[in-house]
Amino acid sequence: MNPSPTSERKFSRTLVTSALPYANGEIHLGHLAGAYLPADIYVRYLRLRGEDVLYICGTDEYGVPITLTAERQGISPKELVDRNHASIRKSFADFGMSFDNFSQTSRPIHTETSQAFFTDLHSQGVFRQKTTEQFYSPSQQRFLADRYIEGTCPRCNAEGARGDQCEKCGSSLDPTELIEPRNAQDGSPLELRETTHWFLPLGDFQDRLIAMIDAHPEWKDNVKQYCRGWFKDGLEDRAVTRDLGWGVQVPLPDHDGKVFYVWFEAPIGYISSTREWAAAQGDPEQWRKWWQDPETRLVHFIGKDNVFFHAVMFPAMLMAHSENYVLADNVPANEFLNLEGQKLSTSRGFAVWLPEYLEKFQADPLRYTLARNLPETRDMNFTWEGFQARNNNELGNNFGNLINRIFTFVHKYFDGVVPEWSEAMMTDLDRQALAEVEADLQEWARRLGTFDVKAAVEAAFHAGQVGNRYFDESAPFKTRKTDLERCGHSLGVSLQIIRMLAVMLAPVVPFAMEKLWNWLGMETALWRGGWNEGCRPIPPGRKLGTPEILFPRLDDEVIQPEVERLKKLLEG
Ligand code: MF3
Ligand code: ZN
Repeated sequence: MNPSPTSERKFSRTLVTSALPYANGEIHLGHLAGAYLPADIYVRYLRLRGEDVLYICGTDEYGVPITLTAERQGISPKELVDRNHASIRKSFADFGMSFDNFSQTSRPIHTETSQAFFTDLHSQGVFRQKTTEQFYSPSQQRFLADRYIEGTCPRCNAEGARGDQCEKCGSSLDPTELIEPRNAQDGSPLELRETTHWFLPLGDFQDRLIAMIDAHPEWKDNVKQYCRGWFKDGLEDRAVTRDLGWGVQVPLPDHDGKVFYVWFEAPIGYISSTREWAAAQGDPEQWRKWWQDPETRLVHFIGKDNVFFHAVMFPAMLMAHSENYVLADNVPANEFLNLEGQKLSTSRGFAVWLPEYLEKFQADPLRYTLARNLPETRDMNFTWEGFQARNNNELGNNFGNLINRIFTFVHKYFDGVVPEWSEAMMTDLDRQALAEVEADLQEWARRLGTFDVKAAVEAAFHAGQVGNRYFDESAPFKTRKTDLERCGHSLGVSLQIIRMLAVMLAPVVPFAMEKLWNWLGMETALWRGGWNEGCRPIPPGRKLGTPEILFPRLDDEVIQPEVERLKKLLEG
């Protein structure tokens, strides 16, 4: 066991990944709250601290569901994934996701990278070969994945049970157990045929995987618990190849028609995407620094349904490789987000899709609302009315108004120049407000460092409340007439609070805070170590920018149609 928890280890750089989204449809709020927004906030936090960080993602483009969608739309799978990739890339960008690279698993760099990875393991004799019987569809001339086989449930006799599970009684099934199995798509009969595949013997890695997890007491309980459960049952061999047309070809002779299992190849996509980034930087070999130098901290942000692949399967693959790869230092996995109290259902259209959202609203309020409601330790709920309230009451009233009032005041009575404020003029009221916000700032940083994004945003919210209270109590609107010097001083103090608020809110609502950062006349680029300047007082005499409304109100008129749309879907 590692004597000191790795969380205390010193690393020189951080490589952050978000689960590669399937290029089989659009991104919805559930995705954002799980693997994307918290990662982006964390990455922006590290950039703010001036740390060396690389944020990698891309679309996951192989697998049966994509083939089926493409068939339905009468286009090739490649056309489908290219289209979806472009659309996902755009909505992520508009949402403020700050990936350093966003690749596709259908690109040649990924074919090469995943094939080379396979070949390395294969030539060391890591894989086992096994021949099994699988259902083959003569009508479609292909082997079928479990969920595309349908039949009668052997447990409850329900019709239409799938090869992987029966929806009716919830039993998980093996397709060979189904009574009268047939092709779920066209109902045609199936044959069992022998086929040979390569398997990764995960059991061989179990001891090392246990040691890895034991060395990380700081990991989230949900992740550790899932893993312990799998270890207890004992890890089984996992097929890494499949009989399918759409995938990365297995690079061995006599393997025509065989491709990699998506969960073998997709995580390697993180490496391919890093290689693509390195090449674009003009230094193709620098990807190794990010994956093979022990001073790299690797962090995978995922939803809870991906824990097995990121905490067990991918680490085992990395351990098996003949070169030394870094293993995940943390795998912050989130629970699920519900919508209006119900489970999301993409098949029923019961979801809020990012591109549609962005046609009507700005990114920041959604980022903020989701950040306040992150399903970090339990499932959480998104409602449109909650969204409206967070926007109007918290972004608008707590933060936006405060910022606006102070800037307006300084412009109106002090020519837009930071007024004289000084240590000598500090009252207890001033000192206490500054101390509280400074404590919030420390708390904020500490929480982000341990992936407690929601708690970090709560600290920022609290700082906003302190700022409002201070403004009311120091009452520059009164002292303006009685004691202009005191008035200027307390505005100067308020501006310090705003400066710290800008830091704390920047990763959450980056569009608004980039503006505020400029209005404050800050010199450091926010995302290149803005923290240091953000922790230093803004001196009197600096000219401030002219503010505009950062967080416009959202009225019932624009919110109610969204509520209605979801309500109809639930009734329908
Ligand atoms: N596409 C998968 C999902 O959305 C995630 C793949 S993560 C990767 O659940 F590591 F495999 F790439
Ligand atoms: Zn059943």
